[in-house]
Amino acid sequence: MRPLFSVLLLIAVAAILVFRITLRYSSIELKNEYPFAGKAEKPVLNETLLKYACIDIGEPRLKKEVEELLEGNFRGHNRHRSFLSSGKYRIDVSPRTARGVSVQLRSPEFYRLWQSFRRNLQDWFRNRKLPKDVMMDLVSAVKVPIDAHSGLVRSQKRYKSCAVVGNSGILLKSEYGELIDSHEAVIRLNNARNRGFEHRVGSKTTLSFVNSNILHLCARREGCFCHPYGVNVALVMYICQPVHFLDYMVCNSSHKVPLVVTDPRFDILCARIVKYYSLKRFVEGTGKSFQEWAPAHDGANFHYSSGLQAVMLALGVCEKVSIFGFGKSASAKHHYHTNQRGELKLHDYDAEYDIYHDLVERPQVIPFISEKFKFPPVSIYQ
Ligand SMILES: *[C@@H]1O[C@H](CO)[C@@H](O)[C@H](O)[C@H]1NC(C)=O
Ligand SMILES: *[C@@H]1O[C@H](CO)[C@@H](O)[C@H](O)[C@H]1NC(C)=O
Repeated sequence: MRPLFSVLLLIAVAAILVFRITLRYSSIELKNEYPFAGKAEKPVLNETLLKYACIDIGEPRLKKEVEELLEGNFRGHNRHRSFLSSGKYRIDVSPRTARGVSVQLRSPEFYRLWQSFRRNLQDWFRNRKLPKDVMMDLVSAVKVPIDAHSGLVRSQKRYKSCAVVGNSGILLKSEYGELIDSHEAVIRLNNARNRGFEHRVGSKTTLSFVNSNILHLCARREGCFCHPYGVNVALVMYICQPVHFLDYMVCNSSHKVPLVVTDPRFDILCARIVKYYSLKRFVEGTGKSFQEWAPAHDGANFHYSSGLQAVMLALGVCEKVSIFGFGKSASAKHHYHTNQRGELKLHDYDAEYDIYHDLVERPQVIPFISEKFKFPPVSIYQ
């Protein structure tokens, strides 16, 4: 057994070395990706902040979490451990191994589910790296499967126009329903109810964009029912906790419409852009050093909002983008459809509004986006 062990050890060391070199190269490549390096608008982007925006403070924790899940160790995920036990699948958690609690798999059905869970999670985690031209892949990743489901011809054409409908209470001040429905595609967020609000928010839905917490809630329902806009409306979802791939596996098998998980490279792109804007706002607004940003913004948990990623998605799949229901005002509720008071602290909505304004007025200053990508015109309705 000894020689075999040495060989394995050697392979492991080699793999780590290759990984390190790859990492180093990706950070060098990054420099060339700043879209306006060398052009007139260069001063707009600050190198220090760009670099810092690429550091994901939560990454080590995420890595540990993913590794534990891949081993079947749900110890740190007690909230989820009975997740599948109410349906026909069951995860039995028992303290059998010395390392902690591990999952015992009983039914062959669950075993298959478990295998694909691991495969999906592994692929997802492996692909969380430097985004390159990922904006140009969005039509293939999102629009093509939706068209195919509706029996339309496969094409790389974008939607002529899209409305992204946020959930801000400011929507209650206007009657944009008809205007929203006049767009070729309407994107709604986190399954916000539109029934009863049609004259304000419209009634048409082409795509429902959600975070995986929403799907996790749906997964508790019979047949993973997640269709407030009708069973033919496709879902696009980003993963906010890796354990939610279990929900994805269960729901994907029962959904007839496409249930698309966002490309992790697209997630990273969104995260970096928002962090850059948040850093910039923090440094300029407080006069403090960028190093103080993390404690002030709960750096390890900091995340973009679903709205931001839905807008980014629309930029990739539409020729023209209109944004409704984004923004706040002292006299408006936080959500049009709920009585939730405050905002979640892990988002920086002000930084995201800065991004939307740049999208309208000077999209070329938005960092990390490939030069080849052409921004569509964007309008904000408030
Ligand atoms: C970039 O930001 C850093 C950190 O806030 C600051 O120290 C530096 O002066 C800025 N550089 C430029 C060129 O504005
Ligand atoms: C999700 O469901 C679709 C349609 O049934 C299928 O083509 C796809 O392979 C599934 N994805 C995964 C990861 O199982």
